[in-house]
Amino acid sequence: MENLNLNHKYKIIITTNFGLEAVVKRELFSLGYDKLKVSDRKIELEGTANDIARLNINLRCAERVYIALTSFKTTSFEELFDKTYSFNWMDIIKKGGAFPVNGKSYKSKLFSISDSQRIVKKAIAERLKSEYKTDWVNEDGPRYQLEIDLNSDIATITLDTSGRGLHRRGYRTRAGDAPLKETLAAALVYLSFYSLDQKRTLIDPFCGSGTIPIEAAMIKRNIAPGLDREFDFMYWDNLGFDKAYEEARSEAMSKIDFDKKLSIIASDIDKWQIIKAKDNASRLGLEDDIRFFVKDFRKLDLRDDHSVLISNPPYGVRLGEEKEIEKLSIDLGEKFSKFKNLSLYFLTSFDEFEHFFGRKADRKRKLYNGKIKTNYYQYYGNKPKEV
Ligand SMILES: C[S@@+](CC[C@H](N)C(=O)[O-])C[C@H]1O[C@@H](n2cnc3c(N)ncnc32)[C@H](O)[C@@H]1O
Repeated sequence: MENLNLNHKYKIIITTNFGLEAVVKRELFSLGYDKLKVSDRKIELEGTANDIARLNINLRCAERVYIALTSFKTTSFEELFDKTYSFNWMDIIKKGGAFPVNGKSYKSKLFSISDSQRIVKKAIAERLKSEYKTDWVNEDGPRYQLEIDLNSDIATITLDTSGRGLHRRGYRTRAGDAPLKETLAAALVYLSFYSLDQKRTLIDPFCGSGTIPIEAAMIKRNIAPGLDREFDFMYWDNLGFDKAYEEARSEAMSKIDFDKKLSIIASDIDKWQIIKAKDNASRLGLEDDIRFFVKDFRKLDLRDDHSVLISNPPYGVRLGEEKEIEKLSIDLGEKFSKFKNLSLYFLTSFDEFEHFFGRKADRKRKLYNGKIKTNYYQYYGNKPKEV
């Protein structure tokens, strides 16, 4: 890699949560990227610094954006050191840049992750010392988080451009007791009819800290998820990423739709959750787009119209006990299963949900909320014309 400039094409790796590859692929298509290689939990493409800035700022359902810097076969620590040393690290890491190294190893002769990390760190430090003609590498500058990934004796060294995971949008300083990851909440909305039909009302009767209604409002207003947070790449002025960030951010700002009228209802039985949710929404200026109120879902006044209900009721593993969850699912069934026009979407880790709810879902998707295996039960109700 030499003479890196704003036109340089990097090999980009976007990581996703299990089950969300197709949703992220669709997001990439709509951002104009179509040369994609999709595999389990990752999507690869080529792109410039500007593309990397756009991806970080705009992707709602992906986990992180990496650059694959170098890849080689290695079966010994000497080889790992030499091949790492031979890469032109000074083209990437500016003088004074910090370069922590994480690691993972799978089916490889070099199985000690800590030793591999140490060797890679040492090789890079030695190379930078020799290039910058110093006998000490100062690391008080911007962070370049590296990872050595050993897989079947092939070492790949990647650079994390995101910093904090992409789910950290910045609006949720107040999370609920069992908050949904923002990336997953956005995916639930994309996987529902709400994203297809502009006129429908969205209802979340277990809104907690408000993640689903807030992500839905951001989608409808076209507010990019990364407008209000920091990324590691922003500080890589040696590679022109500072300019790329400014450009991509202004592009995203210019696309916000302030005029649309939204119809979103968010309720919860717990007053404190509603206070938190309102606070989170107001951080994005969305407080007037979402009608928040305190209510037991059993007392909600609902009509069998074309609204879309997306929710994650208490799980049992984190809140409440098994018996309570059974009772809650029965009550959910009594309240909602009679509505044949409402589209219903429930995310829960309760495996017997359909049985107690009393109706078989039209589609069931396996998804993970952090490490918790959940199912997304989808009851189509009234389908939009496009489907
Ligand atoms: C798994 S949490 C939802 C988390 C939310 N999606 C978020 O991102 O913060 C479940 C929520 O259901 C609420 N809840 C429990 N029983 C309820 C009931 N009978 N009616 C309405 N809300 C209820 C809890 O207060 C809690 O906030």
